[in-house]
Amino acid sequence: MELTGKTVVIGVSAGIAAYKTCYLVSRLTQAGAEVHVIMTPNAKHFVDPLTFETLSGNKCITDTFDREFEFDVKHVSLAKKADLFMIAPATADVIAKCACGICDDMLTTTFLAASCPKYVVPAMNTGMYLNLITQNNLKTLIHYGVHVIEPAEGHLACGDTGAGKMPEPEQLFDVIISVLGKEQDMAGLSMLVTAGATQEAMDPVRFITNHSTGKMGAAIAREAVSRGASVTYIKASTSVPDPDGCEVVSAVSAAELCKAVTERAGSADIIIMAAAVADYRPKTVSDDKMKKKDGELTLELERTTDILAELGKQRAEGKLPAGQFICGFSMETKDLIENSRAKLEKKNCDMIVANNLKEQGAGFGHDTNKVTLITKEGNVELELMSKQDVAAAILDRIIKKNFAEM
Ligand code: CTP
Repeated sequence: MELTGKTVVIGVSAGIAAYKTCYLVSRLTQAGAEVHVIMTPNAKHFVDPLTFETLSGNKCITDTFDREFEFDVKHVSLAKKADLFMIAPATADVIAKCACGICDDMLTTTFLAASCPKYVVPAMNTGMYLNLITQNNLKTLIHYGVHVIEPAEGHLACGDTGAGKMPEPEQLFDVIISVLGKEQDMAGLSMLVTAGATQEAMDPVRFITNHSTGKMGAAIAREAVSRGASVTYIKASTSVPDPDGCEVVSAVSAAELCKAVTERAGSADIIIMAAAVADYRPKTVSDDKMKKKDGELTLELERTTDILAELGKQRAEGKLPAGQFICGFSMETKDLIENSRAKLEKKNCDMIVANNLKEQGAGFGHDTNKVTLITKEGNVELELMSKQDVAAAILDRIIKKNFAEM
């Protein structure tokens, strides 16, 4: 079975979505995992511990000072034993405690002690979720390497409609499978990845953009999360869902993307620039809608900052960490290798992932890609494969060549 030999600790805090966690526990147990459930005292108002005990086959832990329990210090032994720890549902209260390191029950105590990949799955009223206090607490958790699974939007038990709904248990199960089925060879690494197409405004109505959907960048982020990396996903315009477990930052224009990347570049071990960034933007942006007139319109454009080249420059000036790996993409319609190798040198990066837009199955919008990995050592031409497999191949190469000794 997929999860045989793996120990999963599920934390349950006091939210109505706790009923969905019963199915998750059952699913994990059926997949062969050893599942331990820890509940906060108030979570017992929503689901009886007996339900989780029956589904997991293990005692459900709710009390730090349970004297009838096994002799070892449970919060330490479980924390050590866990291959993955997921709090689902995670209330605003439990998120706040975990973000501050408060340990006043068995769940928060064990969560702080655990060093395995940790996930929180927020589920609460929209107002509580969107409140900046909760958002800042989630950012703090992400900063410390905890993965946050974004809540879904929809009808909430409190009667409101909006963000705050716990994702379906099957989705949470898939996250766990994707993590525990994989070697955690990126644990401890932080990665910054950009995705999507920038938009350069002409006026409040119109903008200049390109066909990028963000699929490739999202696939890289997803792959890195599943291998244990702490990922910041900086997205321009995308048409794909945000990957689970990342810190998500929105940056629509090339200038916003540049700011978002350069502000965070100093703390990343790996930077992957998969976004399709505009090279030019309208020189002036009209405050009001531009009205049409007879005849032609000439739009004056100016250059945007080349973000990848800027990173290369900062690296040459010693402003970025030694050993940091910088990877760019290159999209061409002819002379793929020559043009892409020129970008590797000019932008002072470690790898260029090159693809030819004219090759079948490569480029914008497809679920597949056909790329060549270009480094100082040479070129590696990959077969046509899914973008998820391309993501895995790119990360394999980066990790094996540069971070294998970790
Ligand atoms: N890039 C960037 N900032 C820009 C333009 C591109 O950081 N203003 C990055 C892209 O994210 C990509 C790489 O540079 O990783 C190469 O982008 P590409 O569009 O293929 O090439 P350009 O450098 O823009 O050159 P050209 O348009 O002449 O092919």
